[in-house]
Amino acid sequence: MQHLILPVLLASLWTLCTGSADWCYQSQFTCDHECNTPDKWNHANSDCSGKQQSPINVVTRKTLPDERLTPFKFNNYDHIFRGTIKNNGHSVQVNVPHLATISGGGLPDTYKAVQFHLHWGTDGGPGSEHTIDGEQYPMELHIVHMRQEFSDLTTALSDAEGVAVLGFFYEKSKSANRKYDSMISALKSITAADANTSLSSISLAQLIPPEHNMTSFYRYKGSLTTPGCTESVIWTLFEKPIPLSHDQLKTFSDLKFKDGKRMVSTFRPVQPLNGRQVYRSGGAVILASSALLVAAITMAMGLSQPN
Ligand SMILES: *[C@@H]1O[C@H](CO)[C@@H](O)[C@H](O)[C@H]1NC(C)=O
Ligand SMILES: *[C@@H]1O[C@H](CO)[C@@H](O)[C@H](O)[C@H]1NC(C)=O
Ligand SMILES: [Zn+2]
Repeated sequence: MQHLILPVLLASLWTLCTGSADWCYQSQFTCDHECNTPDKWNHANSDCSGKQQSPINVVTRKTLPDERLTPFKFNNYDHIFRGTIKNNGHSVQVNVPHLATISGGGLPDTYKAVQFHLHWGTDGGPGSEHTIDGEQYPMELHIVHMRQEFSDLTTALSDAEGVAVLGFFYEKSKSANRKYDSMISALKSITAADANTSLSSISLAQLIPPEHNMTSFYRYKGSLTTPGCTESVIWTLFEKPIPLSHDQLKTFSDLKFKDGKRMVSTFRPVQPLNGRQVYRSGGAVILASSALLVAAITMAMGLSQPN
């Protein structure tokens, strides 16, 4: 009897002292709350140190135009549903009915929406997961889809192309984005970890730019950006950001982690590309070269002006 109890006791002490129980973001780590920060996620999930991890920094001048990256077909994105918004201890998440689908956009299949969640900074400061030419946006929306043949995300993740995530950046705007009012006012009711509340009427279409502004995007193969970091994700990053006011962005920092501390800086640092190619749709402009073009035109005009 006794020689059974001791190992069990030691094992439970071990998990207590090493804090291996849960993963966390860098912002959650303190001396009295030791948790697995992003550099240690691979201790519990070896996939987190894989060669195709997300997020990444997109260097636009190294992206390759790909004519197969045609505009997406969004189906039932305007379907209005009643949803539950939940503080899951790492983010806010809304599970969506599996009715909205995407196809086209260079995807190998039709994918259906499963859930969406966000990643943000501190009080509207830098907080996106992906960066574009080193720029970190204040927030990033992930709409997670799975290949239509699957009925749950866990199964979809066992297929190398089982999951497609649409990533949208946010930018600070002077005026509030009224299409976000219901979601942002719901945050007040779910500041505590594991709290949830209902959203009476919401659609995916209301959260994202109009369809004609979604033809410019980047594409690469990567992973989930939280443990288990499974490398089964076809990533799409749209160039056009979603506008939110500073106050709207700041509201996300009122949420709390499980330990009661402010839920801020909920992003994983960018990961090595390891030789992966990032593609861009025909519409995606290379910012650096278009700036150069403008400079060249301006100079030419200046030169041609008689004075
Ligand atoms: C929402 O919270 C209630 C308790 O307040 C709980 O019973 C319910 O299961 C939760 N729903 C979800 C989707 O987490
Ligand atoms: C958004 O669409 C409008 C109307 O087609 C267009 O004028 C504008 O340039 C687009 N913006 C971006 C960033 O795609
Ligand atoms: Zn995410």
